[in-house]
Amino acid sequence: MDQKPVTVPAIKAMKRVQRIGMLTAYDYPTAKIADAAGTDIILVGDSLGMVVLGYPDTLSVTVAEMVHHTRAVARGTQRALVVGDMPYLSYHVSIEESVRNAGEFIRAGARAVKIEGGKPARIKAVEAILDAEIPVMGHIGLTPQSVNVVGGFKLQGKNAHDAKRLIDEAVALDQAGCFSLVLECVPEELAALITERISIPTIGIGAGPSCDGQVLVFHDLLGLYDGHTPKFVRRYANAGEEMRSAIARYLDDVRSGRFPDGAKESFHMASTEELKKLYGDSVVVPMPKVN
Ligand code: KIV
Repeated sequence: MDQKPVTVPAIKAMKRVQRIGMLTAYDYPTAKIADAAGTDIILVGDSLGMVVLGYPDTLSVTVAEMVHHTRAVARGTQRALVVGDMPYLSYHVSIEESVRNAGEFIRAGARAVKIEGGKPARIKAVEAILDAEIPVMGHIGLTPQSVNVVGGFKLQGKNAHDAKRLIDEAVALDQAGCFSLVLECVPEELAALITERISIPTIGIGAGPSCDGQVLVFHDLLGLYDGHTPKFVRRYANAGEEMRSAIARYLDDVRSGRFPDGAKESFHMASTEELKKLYGDSVVVPMPKVN
């Protein structure tokens, strides 16, 4: 695999040439793992709120939290394109605030940002952020930051009317200058149509196999999140169970005295003479063997 850093133009050039593999990560070790595995785009998703911070949804996540985690991910990434997910209310209040908040992600080491939605106000925000030389990834379909308006985490674009609106939003985001577009939880037929219709790569999550790339949440893919797992998640490992079992074995060893091993896992005084200085001549304490 080419070890050169993945750039925004490189992602655009992958459309219909090579499928894009995207994954979320939230800290230094997970970013290092995702990057070493060859991930093209690492998204510091606001799913952080649910899978790492324990909130019930993504709405409580702040810019400060996202930026803190973006900094850690950027430090752990050498090749992948790091994209920072702008949280709820960070691009809704004013254009000026949107640009300033997007800039915070770039200062933290992201090379692009993602924003949810495709209505006219969002298009204006995309254009202004791009005007500040910050690449933008779009995100339509199920947009978790709109959960209260939509009434739940539901499939979007099931009927022709809603599907047409999503196609219009995809075209508008493409024309506004987004470099890629996440399609979340939409029928695969609609994702195929949008992918055909726009010039930028589509990256699906619950949007079927016709997209130009796919994204999953790190904790879902590896079995580290025990909340609701949607149908579109494929679990490639049960790391949570492995971690629980390893910790249980550790605690068992501690309680039974098997950990730590006196020779292999402990440090020792420089010599018996040094030890005698502590205990005195009357007590003979044999030095443990050092390997
Ligand atoms: O926050 C996130 O993880 C996301 C992806 C699911 C696209 O937005």
